[in-house]
Amino acid sequence: MRIILLGGPGAGKGTQSSYISERYGIPQISTGDMLRAEKAKGSTLGKQAEEIMNAGGLVPDELILGMIEQRIAEDDCTEGFLLDGFPRTIAQAEALQDKEINIDHVVEIRVDDGEIIRRMSGRRIHPASGRAYHVEFNPPKAEGIDDETGERLIQRDDDCEEVVRQRLAVYHEQTAPLVDHYSHWAEFGGAGAPEYHVIDGIGPIEGIRDQIFSVLG
Ligand code: AP5
Repeated sequence: MRIILLGGPGAGKGTQSSYISERYGIPQISTGDMLRAEKAKGSTLGKQAEEIMNAGGLVPDELILGMIEQRIAEDDCTEGFLLDGFPRTIAQAEALQDKEINIDHVVEIRVDDGEIIRRMSGRRIHPASGRAYHVEFNPPKAEGIDDETGERLIQRDDDCEEVVRQRLAVYHEQTAPLVDHYSHWAEFGGAGAPEYHVIDGIGPIEGIRDQIFSVLG
């Protein structure tokens, strides 16, 4: 199964990806996690991306496309994959179509901007795995510590309110057009058309997970 998870920053894509990936046995491919891993390694790509990410902008399409093409050519993607945070522009979506990489389901997790700003200040992540927690809504078992590895959690550089507001502006301008792109394609059909599902992203995490499982079947 090939799935795209669409939604604004902090909509819960990463949180829900872990459940989907486990249930359907497909890898989660998060372009944000991949870029953060490149930053941590100090690679050329990581250095090119760092400033843009910290300012809340989008990394250029050609850098992202090169990274994604390589990743989905790997063996663990033969039975499908879950794209989390990609595509993020119409050009990225068209690149998938040009390569005839058909998608079965696009799942949009919808959350309003006010809730997103509230959520981000409380987010803590485990940098090595990308696992996300929230100090109030999804706390780790021990404060500041990853449940699975016992390693320390951190706050992301781009989770301060000013940068979150910029990321939201970029989302509305450059990524939200994908909602129309995929929902119209799903509605009118045609070669390679995906199914399109809208999920209300507000409420208990497990309830949202179950809604997603129910539309994916
Ligand atoms: P990326 O890492 O993809 O960031 P994002 O899309 O902004 O998404 P987030 O990871 O911030 O949020 P999420 O939806 O995964 O939410 P989460 O589950 O953590 O990208 C970072 C940067 O990389 C971009 O800004 C850009 O610069 C660059 N980039 C990445 N991909 C790119 C691309 N394709 N093209 C160009 N540039 C790219 O949840 C958020 C918080 O809420 C957590 O604390 C969680 O515990 C909590 N939470 C989750 N669900 C709920 C709930 N139901 N109720 C209450 N709290 C909840």
